[in-house]
Amino acid sequence: MKNILVLTGSPRKGGNSDLLADAFIKGAEEAGHKVSKFASAEKKIAGCRACDKCWTTGTACIFPDDFRELAPLVEEADTLVIVSPVYWFTMSAQIKAAIDRLYAYYTPNRKKDLKLTETVLLSCAADEPSVFKGLEETYKSLLAYTGWKDAGIITVPEVSDKGDILKTGALTKAEELGKSI
Ligand SMILES: Cc1cc2nc3c(=O)[nH]c(=O)nc-3n(C[C@H](O)[C@H](O)[C@H](O)COP(=O)(O)O)c2cc1C
Repeated sequence: MKNILVLTGSPRKGGNSDLLADAFIKGAEEAGHKVSKFASAEKKIAGCRACDKCWTTGTACIFPDDFRELAPLVEEADTLVIVSPVYWFTMSAQIKAAIDRLYAYYTPNRKKDLKLTETVLLSCAADEPSVFKGLEETYKSLLAYTGWKDAGIITVPEVSDKGDILKTGALTKAEELGKSI
């Protein structure tokens, strides 16, 4: 049994990436894993302010926003699933802000190491497949830096309106990936 954290980035509830996340969760729960879903776009999480005061007041970050809810979930997770629509050729600002705040776990004066070993990337976009280039490059660089292993990437091009993803086979693929994790 793994602890899986599904971090989503779209503000569109029930949108394409949200459905992708839920399909993955269905598969992962069927396989017996414990899954938490955290919708960064429903929370107030600011970007990192580079104050370098991480851990000085006991918590990972000194600023009291909703990152305080995300931090314990990240600390417990074995697997992180990054789910975002492509916004301007990369992930959405909402999920990027949440990921930026993980800086606290990679500073030399950190008080805790994450036990995360693997990540999954689930994404969708309105345009053709080449539009994921920027996001995939960021994802791969993130993994190279942290040492996390890639456990699967699903990118779904040519979905724009809410529900467009239902006309693709992507939800079945996401569920299968969740089952196999
Ligand atoms: C602010 C914004 C920026 C976007 N930028 C891109 C983009 O650069 N390339 C693209 O193909 N689609 C872009 N899209 C379209 C979304 O990626 C697409 O509609 C996706 O299916 C939305 O997923 P969601 O339903 O999970 O929110 C953008 C949408 C928004 C709202």
